[in-house]
Order: sequence, then C-alpha cells, then structure tokens
Amino acid sequence: MEIDPKKIDYVLMKNRRDRNALIPILQDIQAELNWLPEEALEIVALELGIPLIDVYGVTTFYRTFSLKPRGKHIVTVCLGTACHVRGGQRITETISRELKINSGETTKDLKFTLETVNCLGCCAIGPIVVVDGEYYGGMTSQKALALLKRTGREEA
Ligand code: FES
Repeated sequence: MEIDPKKIDYVLMKNRRDRNALIPILQDIQAELNWLPEEALEIVALELGIPLIDVYGVTTFYRTFSLKPRGKHIVTVCLGTACHVRGGQRITETISRELKINSGETTKDLKFTLETVNCLGCCAIGPIVVVDGEYYGGMTSQKALALLKRTGREEA
C-alpha cells in the first residue's frame, strides 16, 4: 500500500524531528493514516536516527498502535457478559455478514474495521455498539445495520 511521504514529513516537522517525541509522532501518523504502515515506520526510524527495531518495539508495546490497516470507521461491539446475553453476538454476526469481514478485520475499501471488546463499563445500556468513539446503547441487529448505512452515507 502506497503512503504519502509528505504526510509523514509534516508530522515529523510538527514534532521538530525530536527523537524523544517518538510516541506523539507515531500517534500523529496513526491519526493521519488510521494505522502505521511499515514504510512510515522506516521513514520515522531513518529521520530520527532510531533503530527500526526500537520503533517497532514501541508500536507493539502500546495496544493503541495498529500495524494492520484500519478502516476510516471503527465499529466496536461489546461482547461482555451483559451485552452478550442481550444479543451482542447476534449483532456482531449481522455486522460481520454485512461488511463481509470478521472481528479484527478491515473492509477492502478501508471504510470499516470491526472489533469486539469484553466490557465497556456501561452494561446497563447494553448491548452496545461504538462507532468512531460514539456509544450507541440498546442495540439490535436492525439498528446496527441502520447505523452502518448512516455512517457509510455520511462519508459519501
Ligand atoms: S458488558 Fe457491555 S458494557 Fe459491560
């Protein structure tokens, strides 16, 4: 996958090519691209004079970093006990069928990534689906499909 080196250069410039700013730099790149492609990590390592293996070390230590392509929209379904007994699994399967991906995968057009979590700490309003950080409670398969359509449309 091709990346735009100008975007990486902008992030590096913004952070003054400071090797102590490695984590903010990686965060900024992920914010730009939604994930951390190998090519981007190579540029960062070279520009900051940090061994590539150390850059990888940071990206694998922090769970927030993704070394796999992620979609523009992150859809997270809660499968904690409370959400599970209220249909969380069915909702996951519905979304999975609709997007033709499994949990942890991204659609080919890089529009959606589907993830599952074990509890979001607001069980009372479950089952819960989170889209791009926004929580939707009392979810059903139907509502989830409508939400996906709405999210896809907003971007079109
Ligand atoms: S189980 Fe889903 S929020 Fe707790």
